[in-house]
Amino acid sequence: MPARSSLTIASSRGAYDVRIGDGVFEEYLAERPEAPVIADAYFTERLAPHAQRTLFLPAEEGEKTLTATERLIERLRDLGTTRGDHLVAVGGGIVQDVATATASLYMRGLPWSYAPTTLLGMVDSCIGGKSSLNVGRYKNLAGNFHPPTLVLVDPTFIDTLPAEDRAGGLCEAMKISYCRGPEAFARHLELHEAGDMAALIHHALAAKQWFIEIDEFDQKERRLLNFGHTFGHALEAATRFEVGHGTAVGLGVLAAEAFAGHPAPQLAAHASSLIAVAENLPARLARRDPAVFEAAVLSDKKHSHGHLHLIVPTPGGGIAEQRLPRDDATIARVHEAMDEAIATVSAS
Ligand SMILES: NC(=O)c1ccc[n+]([C@@H]2O[C@H](COP(=O)([O-])OP(=O)(O)OC[C@H]3O[C@@H](n4cnc5c(N)ncnc54)[C@H](O)[C@@H]3O)[C@@H](O)[C@H]2O)c1
Repeated sequence: MPARSSLTIASSRGAYDVRIGDGVFEEYLAERPEAPVIADAYFTERLAPHAQRTLFLPAEEGEKTLTATERLIERLRDLGTTRGDHLVAVGGGIVQDVATATASLYMRGLPWSYAPTTLLGMVDSCIGGKSSLNVGRYKNLAGNFHPPTLVLVDPTFIDTLPAEDRAGGLCEAMKISYCRGPEAFARHLELHEAGDMAALIHHALAAKQWFIEIDEFDQKERRLLNFGHTFGHALEAATRFEVGHGTAVGLGVLAAEAFAGHPAPQLAAHASSLIAVAENLPARLARRDPAVFEAAVLSDKKHSHGHLHLIVPTPGGGIAEQRLPRDDATIARVHEAMDEAIATVSAS
C-alpha cells in the first residue's frame, strides 16, 4: 500500500480535505459512477471507463472564458446534472479555472472535487479556491472563489508530464517553501534530494496552507506568495509564452534576488538547477520583447498608484514586500535585475 497523507484546509466557505497518494483519484471515481466529470481531453483514455459522464475539453487558454463556461453549463444540463450531484474536475490549471467557475454558477453552485494533473496544480493552485477566466485580450481578468470540497492529489499523473513542466512545478514548490521561512526551505531541499514527490507536494501545500488560512482574500501575507511573479509573469508575456509559468517563476525568483541585492546562494543554486532542465532556454529568452516585459511589470495587480510593489528576499532568508517609486530609476533597476538573472542561467 503506497503512503497516503492528508491536509484539512480552512476557508470561509467551509473546510475541505486534500488527500495525497498514488491511486487516490481512480479509487474515488470508481466509487461514484454517476458523478459528472469535467476533464482535460489529454485523459480521454485514462477516463474511458467514465466516458459517458465526462465532458472533455482541450487544455487551451481559449477554454478559460465565459463562453466556454456557458457551454459547459449547458452540457452539464444535457447530462441531467442536478443540485444533488457532485462534480469532479480532472486536469491542470486550465481545467481548474473553468471548472471552479462552472461549479460556482451551475444552479447557483455545485459541490465539486478536484484532481490536479500538473505538478504546478498539485503543489500550488489546487488549494485556494480561485478561478480566473480570460476576457477578450485580457488574461485572468474575471474570476471568483468557490473552493472544492475535496482535492485528490495523485502523483501518478506526474509520470506523463514533460520534464520542463515537472521542473516548473518544482520551481513553484521551491518558491512557496522559501516564502514560509528558512526551515521550510531546508525541508524542501531535503525532500527534493530524496526524490520523495508525495512528501514534497504535501510540504509545499502545508506551507501554502499557512498563507491562505491567515489571509484568504489576498490582502497581506498571501501577497508574499507573489515572490518571483511580477518578473515571471512579465517574462512569460515578453516571450509570448515560449517560456512557461514555472520556469518563468524560477527566473523571476533569481531576478527578485538580483533586484534586492541580498545574495541567497542556496535559493539561487536550486532555482538555477531546476531551470537548467528547460531545453533551448537561452534562445527563447533572447527573443523576449523588453517593451512587453516593461508594460507587463507595470500592470501587475499588486501595484498602487505611484508605486511598484515587489516581493524581494531580505538578509537572513526572509522575504518582504518593497514599495518603490514608479519612476525611471526603478524601472531601469527592474530591467537590470531581469537581465542579470537571464545572463546567469544562459551562462550555465
Ligand atoms: N486557479 C488558480 O489558482 C490558478 C493558479 C495558477 C495558475 N492558474 C492557471 O492555470 C493555467 C496553467 O495551468 P497548468 O500549467 O497547471 O496546466 P494546463 O492546464 O495549462 O495544461 C498544460 C498542458 O499540460 C497537459 N497536461 C496536463 N496534465 C498532464 C499530465 N499529467 N501529463 C501530460 N500532460 C498533461 C495539458 O493537456 C496541456 O497541454 C493558466 O491558465 C493559469 O492562469 C490558475
